[in-house]
Amino acid sequence: MNVYLDNAATTPMTSEVVDAMTTVLRSNFGNPSSIHSFGREAKAIIENARRSIAKLVNCVAKEIIFTSGGTEADNMAILCSIKDLGVNHVITTSIEHHAVGHAVDAAIEKYGVKLSKVKLTENGHVDLDDLVAILEANRADKILVSLMHANNEVGNLLPIKKVSEICRKYEAYFHSDTVQTMGHYAIDIAALDIDFLTCSAHKFHGPKGVGFLYVNKNLKINPLIEGGAQERGLRGGTENISGIVGLKTALELANEETASHQAHVQGLKTYMIERLRSEIEDVRFHGDIDPAHSLYTVLNVCFPNFKKQEMLLFMLDLEGVACSGGSACTAGANMGSHVLRGLNADTSRSNVRFSFSRFTTKEEIDFAMEKIHKIMKED
Ligand SMILES: Cc1ncc(COP(=O)(O)O)c(C=O)c1O
Repeated sequence: MNVYLDNAATTPMTSEVVDAMTTVLRSNFGNPSSIHSFGREAKAIIENARRSIAKLVNCVAKEIIFTSGGTEADNMAILCSIKDLGVNHVITTSIEHHAVGHAVDAAIEKYGVKLSKVKLTENGHVDLDDLVAILEANRADKILVSLMHANNEVGNLLPIKKVSEICRKYEAYFHSDTVQTMGHYAIDIAALDIDFLTCSAHKFHGPKGVGFLYVNKNLKINPLIEGGAQERGLRGGTENISGIVGLKTALELANEETASHQAHVQGLKTYMIERLRSEIEDVRFHGDIDPAHSLYTVLNVCFPNFKKQEMLLFMLDLEGVACSGGSACTAGANMGSHVLRGLNADTSRSNVRFSFSRFTTKEEIDFAMEKIHKIMKED
């Protein structure tokens, strides 16, 4: 048996997504910029997908800019807000995904913008009082706040609506990386009243290499990469038609029964927490595990010390359980996880991120638990 518990890294595509993409790959090879019928047909497919996606997330179609995924969309939001909107101060945290963190570093280097990192609470939530204090103290600045909706390593959820209200009050732009939440929660952009939002298809059973940036229609940005006039001149390059159709199909399927998917996956996560707590002494969890404030697909476990702890991830893989690491020793990298470091977590222990999808079963959790016991017993 092989069990895949690394769905925060990527998810398998559903057969409906593969079918929809295959149809396009086989039949719609035209270049959407061509004016003949082949091109017009391809263009229509993209614009229909854009309209469907906009409807699902409640925004206007022209506010969706297709990109090569979450990384490009994050870079675009951060760098374009600096070069085109006059942002001279970015507020973020130390636990954002590198797509945001490294884009901010690059912006500091290139444009010399000011950076403020919001404090985190003890269990890793963004300290909203500190956010307000920073905004209050820097009223003269043109500010972009970039805070992820859910952390990809520990799963903490941001009260995104509250943050957008704070940002509006202080007239700061607000970008949220919703890569881990899009397709897992109903996202209503109009209700959120946000400036930029990032999506990546492969986190909700869509294809890799495609996503979008939502850009509020009131903002006038220029392209990050110069090129053709695709995406209303905002993102040059011949469009990834099959990828865009895969993204649309995956988002439609994910949004069909979000509540029942959530109940199923949260049930599995709670079950695994209970088993770990009752069967392994001194097991801990990173981040907040309260379902009201935690992404239901992610569980970051801090195991007690045992002899072969440095080998845990590797041995789980050998036993047929795919998951991912957090601490320096388990990740096999010198740097370890910047998120766990940012949370001052105990990285001397084995930290493992288990992440689930709507296709994960209780039997798979039982299998993983059996293998965890086996490996810990071999001590
Ligand atoms: C929170 C978050 N943001 C951005 C990304 C990058 O997305 P992509 O792989 O589509 O570039 C990821 C992927 O791991 C992620 O988890």
